[in-house]
This record gives sequence, structure tokens and C-alpha cells, in this order.
Amino acid sequence: MVALEPMIGAVLLSQDQIRSRLSELAAGIDADYDGRDLVLVGVLKGAMMVMADLARMLSHDRVEIDWITVSSYGSGTSSSGVIRMVTEPSLDLAGRNVLLVDDITDSGLTLSWLVEKMRSLAAQSVEVFSLLRKPDLVKMPVPLRYLGFDIPPEFVAGYGMDYAQRFRNLPYIATLTF
Ligand code: IMP
Ligand code: MG
Repeated sequence: MVALEPMIGAVLLSQDQIRSRLSELAAGIDADYDGRDLVLVGVLKGAMMVMADLARMLSHDRVEIDWITVSSYGSGTSSSGVIRMVTEPSLDLAGRNVLLVDDITDSGLTLSWLVEKMRSLAAQSVEVFSLLRKPDLVKMPVPLRYLGFDIPPEFVAGYGMDYAQRFRNLPYIATLTF
């Protein structure tokens, strides 16, 4: 059987574009959290690259990093809306200022679910960072305190984001052709 292999299409956002937008957002985060503790909670696996780059651009000196893994059951290119937290945060987030760091807000279901989850862990504040958003596909609006880019409603990969677990290692963000 011959599987249909997606191929990398156009580069939507280059490494330089990502880097310069992240440095603007990092400056905002430094200012907003000045004098307060900050726990970056990345959503695996998609947020791995953006977390690594964003965290290194912060000058804030009281940053802690944690990870959660969620699975939104479903296959292919859309999320099912049934969300399960596969691994919980390892830090005690009670009383902490949590900034959720995610790769992309598509329907918004995952992040709105996670915001409630962080509140249920008694975080003092919960804000959301999303590198990308597909505004046309949002079903559940998530208040994004920090947003990198709005993009068209196309499936993208690279810079942490996958299709069937591939392409996460690309240093840029590209559309795929199927
Ligand atoms: P949601 O629909 O906002 O709940 O998106 C759930 C998750 O699906 C995101 O955090 C991404 O990890 C993944 N996702 C959504 N759109 C894309 C895409 O275009 N490429 C790769 N992953 C995506
Ligand atoms: Mg994600």
C-alpha cells in the first residue's frame, strides 16, 4: 500500500520572522511580570521549540519552567475537542503566576480547557501565550495575552508542530501539501 506523503509547501514564517516577533513578546513579558514570579508551562510536544527560544529571550530572573502533555483525541488535521491531560505539571502551581505556552490556537478548545485546569490547581494568575492563532477556526475564544501571529486556516508544521509526528524539527513554519 502506498501512503500519501505530505510534502513541505510554502514557508509561512521564517526563522528570522519568528525570532524577531518572539523578542518583542519577550520584552512585554519581562515588563508585565517585573517583580513577580513566573512559571512558564509549556504544552508538549508542540511548544518545545517556542518554549526554548522564548525562555532564552527573557531577562526576568525568577522564571521556572514546567511541562504538561495533553492529547486531544483525534487523528489527521483537526482536534476532536476531547482533551486529556497525559502528564500533570510537576511543580506545585498553587499561588503561582502561570503563563501557558503553546504553539497554536486552532479551535481554542485545548487552551480554554487548560486555563480552567490551571485555575483548578489554584494558580494565582493564569495567562496564555500562543505563537500562532487561526482566527477563522476559533470555536472557543481564548483570551491570549501574548500572540505571535494570526495565520490563515491552513494546516502548518515545523518549529515544534507536527503532522503525524513528523516535521517538528523544521526550524521554520511551513504549510503542507497533501
Ligand atoms: P485546538 O484546536 O486549539 O484545541 O488545537 C489543539 C492542538 O492541535 C494545538 O495546540 C496544536 O498542537 C495542534 N494543531 C492545531 N492546528 C495545527 C496545525 O495547523 N499544525 C499542527 N498542529 C496543529
Ligand atoms: Mg499544542
